[in-house]
Amino acid sequence: MAEITVTEYLLLHQKKSPHATGLFTGLLYDLILSGKIISRRINKAGLLDILGGTGEINVQGENVQKLDELANHILTWRMERCGALCAMSSEENAELIRIRPEFPSGDYILIFDPLDGSSNIDVNINVGTIFSILRRPHGNCGEVTLEEVLQPGVNQVAAGYMLYGPSTMLVFSTGQGVHGFTLDPGVGEFLLSHPDMRIPQQGNIYSVNEGNRKNWDEATRQVVDWFHACQAKDGKNYSSRYVGALVADFHRTLINGGIYMYPADAAKPQGKLRLMCEAAPLAFLAEQAGGRASDGTGRILERAPAHLHMRTPLFIGSADDVAAVEKIYAEHKNHS
Ligand code: AHG
Ligand code: MN
Ligand code: MN
Repeated sequence: MAEITVTEYLLLHQKKSPHATGLFTGLLYDLILSGKIISRRINKAGLLDILGGTGEINVQGENVQKLDELANHILTWRMERCGALCAMSSEENAELIRIRPEFPSGDYILIFDPLDGSSNIDVNINVGTIFSILRRPHGNCGEVTLEEVLQPGVNQVAAGYMLYGPSTMLVFSTGQGVHGFTLDPGVGEFLLSHPDMRIPQQGNIYSVNEGNRKNWDEATRQVVDWFHACQAKDGKNYSSRYVGALVADFHRTLINGGIYMYPADAAKPQGKLRLMCEAAPLAFLAEQAGGRASDGTGRILERAPAHLHMRTPLFIGSADDVAAVEKIYAEHKNHS
């Protein structure tokens, strides 16, 4: 198989787009380099004093892990200097990070979850970095406002993730399908391993934290019961899989099909996952791969964020499985 590196892929892609300035390619290049640096640190996590918590609580009210902080620092340091951005927003920072005047800037906006699934780090289970790229609506003039950043996911120009698993993978889309690259640590390059990824129309796996059942409303219980009772197209029962790292659960869903769910519940009435740095980028990938992403009533990509850290319920994966969920919620609404 011809080995295409992600850099070659990006340059090829850039040549096909007559308006490309190279700035966007440079942005992705720096993002990928940050991912490689994070991956290398994670590989050695058990050997360095970087496991465990920092003792701090982040803007989300969650314990900050040392590796959350490290990944956040690696990304913000490099991306602030990449020259293509006017602003960044990280899951770990309460406020919007505007590019300081001493650095060159552009009209792209980067939103990221530096380390997703970080509560799994201490037990050596997959984690990842999720990213979303938007563009400033009216070009790069004056200080970027929060309103310019709070765009619905449908406006994303690119989205993806780096998955630090048994191998490190980069999966992304610029709106022309979803492509997966695997890091060859010997070469230090991501090589195209999964071109044009497609989510099966229906799967046979459902993925949800069933420990939250006592806090679910009746409709959500019915949704999960539907997957318990339903037979997949291959005649098999649906199996349950839940890593507890969205990026890993989504990656499995992208390849094998099925559905990942994080519904709202009595303890988390808005859901747990963040619209801008988790749900929207993965929704972009899901749709680009032929799947769907919903908050139970409609398309995630059309939801306009009210603030940077807004949360949302999420149902994502195979088109038929997500449609089944929406149908149950709609029926429930009609009867109540
Ligand atoms: P993060 O580590 O970035 O805070 O995200 C954790 C998220 C997500 O990765 C995962 O799917 C979900 O939390 C798991 O939540 P529960 O432990 O409540 O199931
Ligand atoms: Mn996360
Ligand atoms: Mn995180």
